[in-house]
Amino acid sequence: MNNFTYSVPTMIHFGKGQISHLSELKESGNRLLLVYGSGSIKKSGLYDEAMNILKENDLTVYELSGVEPNPRIETVRKGAQICKENDIDMVLAIGGGSTIDCAKVIAASSCYNGDAWDLVLDKTKIKKALPIYTVLTLAATGSEMDEYAVISDLTLNEKLGTGGQLLKPKMSILDPTYTFTVSRKQTAAGVADMMSHTFENYFNNVEGTEMQAGFAETILRCCLQYGPIALNEPTNYQARASLMWCSSFAINGTIKRGCEVSWCIHPIEHELSAYYDITHGEGLAILTPVWMEYILNEKTAKKMATMARNVFGIQQKDDLLASQMGIESLKEFFFDTMELPSTLRETGITNKDNFEIMATKAASKCKGSFVPLSKEDIMEILNRAF
Ligand code: NZQ
Ligand code: ZN
Repeated sequence: MNNFTYSVPTMIHFGKGQISHLSELKESGNRLLLVYGSGSIKKSGLYDEAMNILKENDLTVYELSGVEPNPRIETVRKGAQICKENDIDMVLAIGGGSTIDCAKVIAASSCYNGDAWDLVLDKTKIKKALPIYTVLTLAATGSEMDEYAVISDLTLNEKLGTGGQLLKPKMSILDPTYTFTVSRKQTAAGVADMMSHTFENYFNNVEGTEMQAGFAETILRCCLQYGPIALNEPTNYQARASLMWCSSFAINGTIKRGCEVSWCIHPIEHELSAYYDITHGEGLAILTPVWMEYILNEKTAKKMATMARNVFGIQQKDDLLASQMGIESLKEFFFDTMELPSTLRETGITNKDNFEIMATKAASKCKGSFVPLSKEDIMEILNRAF
């Protein structure tokens, strides 16, 4: 196992009715910026519920609505300006990963004199940030309990991750009932995203990390068990609750610390979103089995077969055959059970014009992965996924 430092300072309030903890925001001051998306929280009644608690506690609320899925830097700039002009004390995000990511970079940009994009390009420039609070409404990214934020500048075809200790939320409210209204498409994409985070951490070559691997396998089995239930019974509390906690633990460091490798599916998906603005989890679902088939060989088969046996219950003794059966089971789960798209064409991508530039950009991030990928490797993966 590698050396590591591990700290998850986010206070989690999990379960029904935990929204009452919004009263604790007054510990951070009395002026807050509420950040949300394009209306789901108004439709569900969560907006009114939260506003009532904030007002009862004498908090002055400024608002930034309309955060886009794949949040844009322009929206971050708008939020930072509101914070600077109004002496805001804290940022509260109510929504999915896009809203939370946007709020995180607003919190940092509000304490920075230059342009917000600088902080996306270079996370070491994040020296200070307003306290970040979240109410999660979609189980997927784990942003509610991690240090990352992913922001796009579509004018440059860039979608980049930034991060740091200061971007970890101070408190997150995880009430699974708020995810009852998530659509079938977003529920399935969310499951694919948390499974992808788990796979990205799981596939490493570091020895002595059985604890992290076992935890990861459990997360994957929970996704297989509860994903279909959430899809078909959207108000099933236990399914929504299990997925919500899986989403947080897939990326909060627990299964990653001690066995860090560069992720390689996410950099490729981020290029797809940057050029074609597709749904993150759908891109990952398409790419993951293709990647698994592409990297499968005598050397990687041992780990892949362990996953196949421990996650999908494959009994086959031969590692290569077991791996292939595991990949087939994953495809069946994603594309048949969860009804996710299986090709890039199904997401609306009609040509391969940008694949070369996308592969060049992604390759720079895939050097230290489980199997390092070159530009040519990524081109081949994109072509097979098309
Ligand atoms: O905008 P609203 O009205 O809120 O609607 C959203 C949006 O249309 C809707 N939604 C959210 N909660 C809902 C709901 N609809 C009904 N009921 C609810 N309870 O769902 C749509 C998608 O929301 P979004 O926040 O975009 O989804 P997600 O949580 O999957 O976030 C995706 C973004 O997070 C980034 C992705 O790249 C993408 O930009 N990621 C962030 C990570 C992180 N911070 O650690 C890691 C991930 O790998 C990922 O890259
Ligand atoms: Zn992801």
